[in-house]
Amino acid sequence: MKGIILAGGSGTRLHPEPKIIELPKYSDPRGNLSFIEEDSQIPFKIERVYWIYDVPGGQVRGGHAFKKQQELIVALSGSFDVVIDNGNEKKIFSLNRSYIGLYIPVGLWRQMENFSTNSLAMVVSSTTFTEDDYIRDYEKFLQTKSI
Ligand code: TYD
Repeated sequence: MKGIILAGGSGTRLHPEPKIIELPKYSDPRGNLSFIEEDSQIPFKIERVYWIYDVPGGQVRGGHAFKKQQELIVALSGSFDVVIDNGNEKKIFSLNRSYIGLYIPVGLWRQMENFSTNSLAMVVSSTTFTEDDYIRDYEKFLQTKSI
């Protein structure tokens, strides 16, 4: 997996990075078709799919990190921004195409915001749901980065 290697402290550590994944797109005068298959377009086994919709203007979703969950986020409809924070810096990914996914490895704080009207965010996850996997306290998240 692509990542940034940082030397120092207790040794060399790999920091995987989020990345945009372009999904297959079959253009057709009858309408376009895209798909996702595990271990092919995305580097994990799919355990769950959930989606976020009917988001009122100005609302923010996410705002946490995961201990184990890897995910791919796709704007199936409309647009929104995903803000990824590795504890040192933030990157904003604007998603607005249904054949573009944002892959997010573990260990990153992520927030979703700036939802357009009628936007539909699909999250393909490597884990089933468990509250234990969430880090919802930003200070605790930062502590995991300093270990
Ligand atoms: P949460 O992931 O906290 O929402 P967001 O991060 O987008 O603001 O999910 C909100 C609630 O929904 C959570 O407290 C429990 C429930 N939930 C499930 O039961 N199963 C799921 O797969 C997800 C994602 C959430």
